[in-house]
Amino acid sequence: MFSGGLKCAMIALAGAAMLAACAKEEASVTAWPAPTLDGKAPIVIAHRGASGYRPEHTLEGYGLAIEMGADVIEPDLVFSKDEVLIVRHDRYLSGSTDVADHPEFADRKRANDDASDEPRKDWWVEDFTLAELKTLRARQAFPGRSKEYDGLYEIPTFAEVLAFVSGEAKKAGRPIGVYPETKHPGFFAAKGYDFEAPLLDALKGFSAGPVFIQSFEPEILTRLKGKTDAKLIQLVFEASPGAGSNVPLEYIATYADGVGPAKELLLNDDGSDRGFVREAHEKHLAVHPWTFRKDLARSFTGAPEHAAKMSAEDGAIDIELRATYKLGVDGVFTDFPDIAVRVRSDIEKGVVR
Ligand code: G3P
Ligand code: CA
Repeated sequence: MFSGGLKCAMIALAGAAMLAACAKEEASVTAWPAPTLDGKAPIVIAHRGASGYRPEHTLEGYGLAIEMGADVIEPDLVFSKDEVLIVRHDRYLSGSTDVADHPEFADRKRANDDASDEPRKDWWVEDFTLAELKTLRARQAFPGRSKEYDGLYEIPTFAEVLAFVSGEAKKAGRPIGVYPETKHPGFFAAKGYDFEAPLLDALKGFSAGPVFIQSFEPEILTRLKGKTDAKLIQLVFEASPGAGSNVPLEYIATYADGVGPAKELLLNDDGSDRGFVREAHEKHLAVHPWTFRKDLARSFTGAPEHAAKMSAEDGAIDIELRATYKLGVDGVFTDFPDIAVRVRSDIEKGVVR
């Protein structure tokens, strides 16, 4: 097919009015100006929903993220006692629910039995049936964020999330994807809860948008390879400053479609490029860094080029997102999808570089 420019040049011969229409069309179809893996603009992944504004992992928070223009919804998955996939970031419940206010569950509080995790006393999701979890209400888990919506929303199951996203995609008339994360698959497997079958079963009927499956643990992803059309994304972090990815990119490239790095792996403290995106792309891995937060944005020192372009009203998250988009990342996880969508749009329109 003809490129936009060639097509317009040909049509221009037909008259000035059509030429003006073409100029308008070309202005709105600019290529993404950073080296993403597929040349397309990066996706905005609503991290735990629009969790900067609503209690995390609630249908209401996911709905707001979709209204804000997010492309993909991120549910973290854990198991209830009766083996239902539940959407929570943490196995413990006191941070994001009102469980501590339920006297009927007071005697369930106990020490963590995952020796590899923090040794806290709390209420643990795998001790509660779905029916019991449904009596809890979600709370804002982050200090400093609005508590206005605390006590209003239920804890959803993964099946409910998929049905909700499908309905919202239909209403919005655009694809909306999901990006489930298997939380603690090794720990759950040792207790007899395996993610593979329930996760793949739940996803079978989902067609509202792209599907990505993420995990910090390579084992579950290597098992899923070849059993699903979903893109597999290995989450990585840096165990100590300067150490690089905790799972080598060479190994990840043998089973995954992409990598989800902690954002610190991409840019140095002065805002300079660490070369991670280029290296991952060379291995044909998409790059989806986490997590971009208005209230936890990095402030770069020094005078990198992007910082010089900031205007007085820009927040640190704007600067951080611009610098990250500029690297050619293929998506970003954010608690504030409205900001990531706006910054992406400004870059597309050439308002900022
Ligand atoms: O899944 C990407 C990112 O969410 C990993 O961190 O702890 O927020 O699940 P976490
Ligand atoms: Ca996650």
